[in-house]
Amino acid sequence: MNPKIPTETQLPLYKAAPPSEPVNITQGQAARRVYIETYGCQMNVSDSELMSGILTRNGYEMVDRLENANVVLLNTCAIRENAEEKVLNRLKHLDHRKQVQSDLVLGVCGCMAQHMKTKLIDAAPYVDFVLGPDAYRNLPMAINSVTTGDPFLDLTLDKGEDYADLAPIRVDGVRAWLTIQRGCDKMCTFCIVPFVRGRERSIPMHLLVDDVKRLVDEGFKEVVLLGQTVNSYNDGTHNFGDLLFAMSEVEAIERIRFTSPHPSDATDALIEAMASCDKVCNQIHLPLQSGSTKVLKAMRRTYTAEAYRELVAKMRARIPNLSISTDVIVGFCGETETDFMETYNLMAEIRYDSAFMFKYSSREGTLADKTLDDDVSDKEKGCRLREIIELQEGISHEINQGLIGETAAVLVEGESRRDPNRYQGKTDGFKTTVFPKENSQVGDLVRVKVESVTAHTLIGSLVAAPL
Ligand code: 5AD
Repeated sequence: MNPKIPTETQLPLYKAAPPSEPVNITQGQAARRVYIETYGCQMNVSDSELMSGILTRNGYEMVDRLENANVVLLNTCAIRENAEEKVLNRLKHLDHRKQVQSDLVLGVCGCMAQHMKTKLIDAAPYVDFVLGPDAYRNLPMAINSVTTGDPFLDLTLDKGEDYADLAPIRVDGVRAWLTIQRGCDKMCTFCIVPFVRGRERSIPMHLLVDDVKRLVDEGFKEVVLLGQTVNSYNDGTHNFGDLLFAMSEVEAIERIRFTSPHPSDATDALIEAMASCDKVCNQIHLPLQSGSTKVLKAMRRTYTAEAYRELVAKMRARIPNLSISTDVIVGFCGETETDFMETYNLMAEIRYDSAFMFKYSSREGTLADKTLDDDVSDKEKGCRLREIIELQEGISHEINQGLIGETAAVLVEGESRRDPNRYQGKTDGFKTTVFPKENSQVGDLVRVKVESVTAHTLIGSLVAAPL
């Protein structure tokens, strides 16, 4: 059985090249072929690449199809209830598969593993092991321990674990994800992340600069720096602004992005680095969460709506053509119609290029779950969500329409999903752009004249003039 799941959650991670010095601990056993299925955010994509690195170094073979695997790892997300439900449904399918493929080993890793702990084994007793985000060094041991019969659990959270010494294996492409910080110290009342990923820790700057040099050698053109609150990066000596300046010095890296920053850590040093480093893209994902200061306070977001508004104005004044996206939650505990309208109006005023919008989902273990009343009905949450989605779709479309006739620099990423005669890539502002291939190549930075648009895509043609 091969159940169909949405493609964005199915990110097989493999690379043809063998490790330089493979350590074959599977000698004498059937070869272990591992398939990783990744759910959730880019940090999980990056963690799956780390897991591929650990496994490959230990003699495991990574495969890109479930059918070819005898070890299946689900790298999971716990951010909202539906993320966990999706994995529980997937596990049921994999249980059926296990019944016909007796040597199949099934591991659940990542945030949901850490969140559900032994409850995961209760819900899916056929799972062979459960590993939290700080336990990936034990992956080979977990896979090998399966013969003992009892499920193996490692849910230790370790503030000292940054995996900085371990090389991930990335899918070839033009964009590389680079984790610069793990964990989160912010404690927003709605959010499960600090509980499943532990305390914040940053990887030393010199190691990260070396990583970027290596990525360039491997052929990557763009690096996206990852952290839960990426701009609170601090390795004890250097802050996030320092890191952006240092990375910009790396020759041949063409673009630098980062996600997701926290508004309270958007310092002048960050704004200065964005304004003065050409390679740092004029794009920021700046989670708002709510436009009501009362709700922001209940969320413990540590800024007011007014401070957020001023921050956006300051950034726009200093960084021309800044593209801004955001995250918004509707229906948080105590959110009245008036609070919601403050969110709606602030979104209408700021005019984001794009937004990820969610209904509040209570997460067991968070402060909101323990101390606040989830008092907005699901129906009301749905209505509010539809209203801001409609608002945002209109704004995104209008902003894109304003780009018609303009020429944008686009980094070519690959073939358009819909048309083999076209390439797709991203502008500096992270807008997906589609254009006829002509003589351009993947990895090129090309000029595209925008001819038509949707709310989410720019469609254009190549312009001959050099960049
Ligand atoms: N319910 C709904 N959305 C949430 N997010 C985080 N926690 C929750 C929750 N409990 C959203 C926030 C965050 C994004 C990654 O997910 O908007 O920025």
